[in-house]
Amino acid sequence: MRLDGKVAIVTGGSRGIGASIARRLAADGATIAVVAHRAREKAEAVAGEIVAAGGRAAPFQADVSRVADCERLAAEVVAAFGTVDILVNNAGVYHPLPMEETTEALWDAQIDINLKGSFFMAKAVAPVMKARGSGKIVNITSTLGVVGSSAGAAYCASKGGQMLLTKALGLELGPHGINVNAVGPGATRTDMNAAIRAQPGREERMEAIAPLGRYWMEPDDVSGAVAYLVSSEADAVHGAHLMIDLGWTAW
Ligand SMILES: NC(=O)c1ccc[n+]([C@@H]2O[C@H](COP(=O)([O-])OP(=O)(O)OC[C@H]3O[C@@H](n4cnc5c(N)ncnc54)[C@H](OP(=O)(O)O)[C@@H]3O)[C@@H](O)[C@H]2O)c1
Repeated sequence: MRLDGKVAIVTGGSRGIGASIARRLAADGATIAVVAHRAREKAEAVAGEIVAAGGRAAPFQADVSRVADCERLAAEVVAAFGTVDILVNNAGVYHPLPMEETTEALWDAQIDINLKGSFFMAKAVAPVMKARGSGKIVNITSTLGVVGSSAGAAYCASKGGQMLLTKALGLELGPHGINVNAVGPGATRTDMNAAIRAQPGREERMEAIAPLGRYWMEPDDVSGAVAYLVSSEADAVHGAHLMIDLGWTAW
């Protein structure tokens, strides 16, 4: 399998898109550190599923907005599995609110988890990857990293920031054999948008204008792109932002 012998950290691997990425990289042969923030039992469940399917995985817990947690997580994964070959910065929060309702705490949470966490997780694993002269980092951004939203300035800023972080880290880490890329999902059916999906008539309105006639993706629609980018097939792909969004940002 194409990821045999590789060790991958998937932040936010306990639910939604991250759980799908964890399962997919495990199916491709990687050993997975499934990371949750609060709900450790969900990381245990995803890791348990992977092990039951014949793969290798273990649950971990960290708040990626805290630099000390990023460093501790990287050290725990190295202690458990010997190295880190792949980092998927997937943990994220989304508070789609207008300016008036965006408090300092909500601004900080989105910037600190989505953007600051991606940088400090990369910083925490970089020494291991540099020492080996290889590694793959994928940042999970969003369509809202390339187009705006009238109720989501903090989220858009965090996701747009992750996009440029991908390029900047690519320049810094590329000479050490570390590929840095980003995947930008469109609307994907997860807990993150349960309230939005519950709005009557919204799905129909969005589908009426969706380029492929489908608005919502499933987490598995996203994980294949990540599996490609962390594989050797993508060794020449660097600093790229691959949109997986049913064409949403094509117009
Ligand atoms: N769903 C979409 O439509 C969509 C679209 C574009 C981009 N994205 C991006 O895709 C990524 C995954 O989204 P999702 O929809 O799968 O989200 P989700 O279902 O809400 O899951 C979020 C994950 O992030 C973890 N997390 C939250 N805060 C954290 C923290 N401080 N430290 C570490 N982990 C933390 C959660 O862990 P706990 O459960 O333990 O808190 C959970 O595993 C995010 O970066 C999101 O911005 C999503």
